[in-house]
Amino acid sequence: MDYKDTIDLQNIPQHVAFIMDGNGRWAKKQGQHRLFGHAAGVESVKEVIKTAREIGISFLTMYAFSTENWSRPSEEVEGLMNLLVEAITNEVDEMHQNGVRLLTIGDIKGLPGNCYDSLMAAMERTKDNQNLTLVLALNYSARQEILEAAKKLTELVQDGSKSLDQIQEQDFAQLLQTKDIPDPELLIRTSGECRISNFLLWQLSYTELYFTETHWPDFRRDALLEAICAYQKRERRFGMVSEQIKKA
Ligand code: IPE
Ligand code: IPE
Ligand code: MG
Repeated sequence: MDYKDTIDLQNIPQHVAFIMDGNGRWAKKQGQHRLFGHAAGVESVKEVIKTAREIGISFLTMYAFSTENWSRPSEEVEGLMNLLVEAITNEVDEMHQNGVRLLTIGDIKGLPGNCYDSLMAAMERTKDNQNLTLVLALNYSARQEILEAAKKLTELVQDGSKSLDQIQEQDFAQLLQTKDIPDPELLIRTSGECRISNFLLWQLSYTELYFTETHWPDFRRDALLEAICAYQKRERRFGMVSEQIKKA
């Protein structure tokens, strides 16, 4: 059976966000070094992008490195940064051919120079692509993102370009790094942990949360289709009652 037959292609979430967790545990289980798990995780990213294109998801946001991840052993941090450059270098041609646009959120200026340069070059090259947008969260902290937006808004109020009593939620959202990106309908976190770990705190307000025991390196096509299927069984009420949703 193809899992694709179990999903409704008319009800595909436009934006799916991922907390790609469990690379380390996956590697340890097979007696390997953590970096072996991260490398296998890159294959999952590629397969998820491919499947997303196949079923028509327009935006994928992937949490690849949090500001908290700097606290890991330096050899792991270094290994992750090298893997990032390697993945971008190896994949940018195919991404471009497939019409994938690359964006980032997080403070990428805080990454090593070669990471920053390869990301900037890949973003410039793919900027007009329209099939799918891949947003990589790198050196990302949701609290930091919200704090920066609050500071910018304060400046706009102080210099008189915005008046305090007219500020709407949309004005704030436009100052986040995700401006122009729709909020995710679905968040998937792999590897059993049921927490948000400082990811997209504003944007996830009404997102469906899906947690799976599967470690990220094992999260491939069928796992994504299964998550979409579970999402499609949910009733998104947005504060209303069930009868109102069914009528609509
Ligand atoms: C996710 O896997 C990758 C990153 C956070 C960069 P982990 O490295 O967190 O794997 P576990 O959670 O230790 O198994
Ligand atoms: C969250 O995973 C960050 C990324 C996936 C990049 P972590 O493994 O760092 O999260 P915690 O420490 O378990 O909350
Ligand atoms: Mg983890």
